[in-house]
Amino acid sequence: MAQHTVTLIPGDGIGSETSAAMRKVLAASGCDIKWEVAEAGSAVMDSCGTPLPESTIDAVRRNKIAIKGPITTPVGTGFRSVNVALRKTLQLYVNLRPVVSMPGAGGRYDDVDLVIVRENSEDLYAGVEFEEGSEDAAHLIDFCKESGAGTIRPDSGISIKPISVTATQNIVRYAFEYAIAHHRHKVTAVHKANIMKHTDGLFLRVAREVAKEYEGRIEFDDRIVDAFCMNLVIDPSQFDVIVFPNLYGDIASDLCAGLVGGLGIAPGANIGKDYAIFEAVHGSAPDIAGKNIANPTAEILSGAMMLDYMHENECAERIRNAVRAIYAEGAYATADIRWATGSDRPACSCTEFTDELVKRIQNSL
Ligand code: NAI
Repeated sequence: MAQHTVTLIPGDGIGSETSAAMRKVLAASGCDIKWEVAEAGSAVMDSCGTPLPESTIDAVRRNKIAIKGPITTPVGTGFRSVNVALRKTLQLYVNLRPVVSMPGAGGRYDDVDLVIVRENSEDLYAGVEFEEGSEDAAHLIDFCKESGAGTIRPDSGISIKPISVTATQNIVRYAFEYAIAHHRHKVTAVHKANIMKHTDGLFLRVAREVAKEYEGRIEFDDRIVDAFCMNLVIDPSQFDVIVFPNLYGDIASDLCAGLVGGLGIAPGANIGKDYAIFEAVHGSAPDIAGKNIANPTAEILSGAMMLDYMHENECAERIRNAVRAIYAEGAYATADIRWATGSDRPACSCTEFTDELVKRIQNSL
């Protein structure tokens, strides 16, 4: 078996715990990975003067594949999101998040099987912002008034919501190609085109145009985001592959994770034409960091997605089989899953869960 070199960005908060678990499990699966560890986030802020050193970006460029633990972004103030910066710099335009029910994980339904395809580079999430009271914000407010676009209160902060034809074509096409490659039957585009006509309206128009190229092969429909949320909670089985602009995709990801048992089991990937960074949907969970109680499943399943991407499908399937078995049996579960299932059985620690998973994978070889 070929050796793969992968950049590992452990992240902060629970990142060091879940990344260590992921490494152990991937090693047990039989895949030969050489890890190159690179740092990002507040831990390197002091030593490097930036939360995202150039050497970390270079490490991803060199190896082309990375897996990343979560990184804390200060709320409201402080440095901008390292995650957003990595996605932009490396043009990781797709955020891919499969959402699948797993017996024993405490999901609300037994049959959820959908895929989130979230645009990853623009929208309100892109961080194009103007601070309240700044000269630039004042210019923009004047411009909006003079052009007749609308009146904005002078004490406003402003975020810009760019949605382009190019990025929308790319993400919608990715959703359709993914649907074809993975034998899916439908793509749903989610938007708020009734209100934001020049942004979400554009997203919908372009999605419809791209959908025509796939007519007869993949079904297409669209939903307004608020009604979509209600429909998703009532009956997730009506959805298959769902394509979102960035911000709605971010919010819907956590909503979908909640349907299948929570953030502890929700994996994901940021994919571009040249590079891919795999990471769980969840954040750094500062409330449980350092306590050895985090659920490592989401990062482990992100690792399995990475193995698929590297064409190590057997190793990936070995991991998924062991994860499904451990959840189905229920003897080992971390605290989040005990809570989601309403079980009063004792929770195991992150390391106990990982060691049991490793044992099962080794026994299956
Ligand atoms: P979060 O996802 O870190 O936590 C939300 C809730 O879920 C918390 O109660 C947490 O304990 C729980 N949780 C999350 N992951 C878990 C796991 N693996 N096992 C058990 N419980 C888990 O979201 P929050 O609190 O909004 O964000 C915390 C920080 O993480 C923020 O600075 C945010 O910016 C950052 N963040 C980073 C992401 C990334 O690096 N990709 C993604 C999302 C948030």
